[in-house]
Amino acid sequence: MSDPSKDPISHGREEAGAYWNAHPIATDSVPHPRGTEESFDAIFERWERRMSERRLAFLNSCRDKRLLEIGCGIGIDGRYFSSHGVKYQAVDMSRESLKLARRHFTMKGLLPRFANADATRLPFDDDTFDVVYSSGVLHHVPNMVEACREAVRVLRPGGTARIMLYHRASYHYLLVHWLVRPLVWLLLALPFGTAIARRMPDKFRQTYEICLEDGFSADRILSISTDTSTPGESNYNPLSYFVTQSEVRTLFAGLEGFEFYTTELKYYPLPFMRKAVEDRWGFFLQITARKPLNASG
Ligand SMILES: C[S@@+](CC[C@H](N)C(=O)[O-])C[C@H]1O[C@@H](n2cnc3c(N)ncnc32)[C@H](O)[C@@H]1O
Repeated sequence: MSDPSKDPISHGREEAGAYWNAHPIATDSVPHPRGTEESFDAIFERWERRMSERRLAFLNSCRDKRLLEIGCGIGIDGRYFSSHGVKYQAVDMSRESLKLARRHFTMKGLLPRFANADATRLPFDDDTFDVVYSSGVLHHVPNMVEACREAVRVLRPGGTARIMLYHRASYHYLLVHWLVRPLVWLLLALPFGTAIARRMPDKFRQTYEICLEDGFSADRILSISTDTSTPGESNYNPLSYFVTQSEVRTLFAGLEGFEFYTTELKYYPLPFMRKAVEDRWGFFLQITARKPLNASG
């Protein structure tokens, strides 16, 4: 799959771009044609239904602030921000997602301030925004270190960064890395592995089929696990990093006052301890931190 003549960072970027252009976030998950008002509304309403009080409190605290969203997808969070008094600006590298985001905003009578940009090269001056917001994006950027540095650079001193990244100390990581990965490896090695995989749940079967087609790799299995992924070119997420709290502090060097909590518990089979496990070992690491008042750039 990889072409050794290409620099790995640009190559990763091309693959990620192809995936997000082919699968703008959430558009495959509702029973309405992509880009219709029904589709946007169904995705937005589900997003609102799943909103926690904690997250809502944060979103509402952004009223009147200049906020940059990095990786806005089709503008779901942006729709909330823009219709609740936030001075909203967004970037995404996927032209297809941005086309939908603009259409979404126009349908809802909101001001579409979107730019096509890569998170590693934000087209804004240092210290520009009161809030830098990014949910589920920076862990998909091949040069994640640079993307995090850019997020800090454009945040004004005293401003707040609110970021969601995939959590390595999570039930999700544990399940995929220590159960799914060895099982896929085993089935690939067995002569009747495909017959067994066909009887497994869809997500596992698709993971197996992708590895059968493109090769087994631990990183690939983790990346596939995070988003909609099916076999075929540009149909599975090519890159997802998982991070710990201590790595977050290093990635966002220059920020202070870090606060963390976790959400999302996919594939948890037990009816008990659900809330406790989600709060401690959730898949999404929600991060809030501030840029010191005396910092710049
Ligand atoms: C999982 S989606 C999240 C979208 C949105 N934040 C949401 O929660 O609905 C990831 C988004 O990040 C964008 N993205 C991925 N890599 C990027 C990069 N290097 N620069 C800017 N956007 C990027 C993708 O195009 C996609 O829209």
